[in-house]
Amino acid sequence: MTVLVLGGAGYIGSHTVDRLVAAGYDVAVVDNLVTGHKDAVNAKARLHVGDVRDKAFMRQVFTDENVEGVVHFAAFSVVPESMKDPLKYFDNNTAGMVTLLEVMHEFDVKNIVFSSTAATYGEPKQIPIKETDPQIPTNPYGESKLAMEKIMHWSDVAYGIKFVALRYFNVAGAKPDGSIGEDHNPETHLIPIILQVAAGKRDQLQIFGDDYPTKDGTNVRDYVHVVDLADAHILALKYLAAGNDSNAFNLGSATGFSNLEILEAARRATGKAIPAVMAPRRPGDPSTLIAASDKARDVLGWQPQFDDVEKIIATAWNWNEKHPNGYAK
Ligand code: UFG
Repeated sequence: MTVLVLGGAGYIGSHTVDRLVAAGYDVAVVDNLVTGHKDAVNAKARLHVGDVRDKAFMRQVFTDENVEGVVHFAAFSVVPESMKDPLKYFDNNTAGMVTLLEVMHEFDVKNIVFSSTAATYGEPKQIPIKETDPQIPTNPYGESKLAMEKIMHWSDVAYGIKFVALRYFNVAGAKPDGSIGEDHNPETHLIPIILQVAAGKRDQLQIFGDDYPTKDGTNVRDYVHVVDLADAHILALKYLAAGNDSNAFNLGSATGFSNLEILEAARRATGKAIPAVMAPRRPGDPSTLIAASDKARDVLGWQPQFDDVEKIIATAWNWNEKHPNGYAK
């Protein structure tokens, strides 16, 4: 039996494929390679290049592979882009989910682990954020993923397709051996941008806002290492395979770091000066996002190995040093 990973050539998807292969799973990957990289896919996984929205293609994949469970990462995830082009997000992310579930129903595949996001909560009413807190997204990206959670809920009610929604907070780092890592174009995330400055590819970091109600005025986020995140997907697959009900879990560390603290940690991890300037707030940024993630620990038995943000950054820096041009040859 095979685990089918949609978006398995992307940043989090490729790390999950790698961990699934290491854990002995037979793995097939679907990726349209729009943001993913062929070289990120573990050589033991079978890559099918195509689009989740292409029903004929998806039917062929489900015919060729003996799919036991699906892990779904195939989505766009850049918040500012979603504000400018919401339909791109509702088409690829939300409509893509409808096609996927139709094909899963057709082929009687009953389990799906879904890459959801803290962005489904919007501006939090309380910190840390619990899974039961209101989900009121403040951008189309979060809205597209919340809709996907709801579509899965009703597909469970009607067709018995069980799901686990994993709501990620801020994902960072790379496989510690530096063989796979994060490579986005354009890059918008804090840690990779800081490392581009450290590597001399950018002149300076712009810190978006220093007047938030936080310890030093800059935004506070909760960082998780990508390998720990990948492992949570394997636990979620096991949870569903054991016949448990659909569920949602936050994946975070329950600890918040301000953007300035991340900059300082990156300076220590890289030994570089990393020039930075203050810049205006970025529209749509919540002040503080910290996850309550005891539910994933208690129910899934999730035990993150990386609890030190400097070590998380060090793994990303190792990837950068080994692959200064990312996956480009
Ligand atoms: N930031 C800067 N300068 C930069 C880039 C980012 O100051 O050049 C700041 C942002 O303003 C924010 C923080 O760094 O305060 C983190 O920003 P990221 O873009 O790295 O991450 P976000 O917190 O905006 O979003 C990430 C994911 C989303 C997810 C969210 C949930 O990209 O998909 O975490 O916490 F929804």
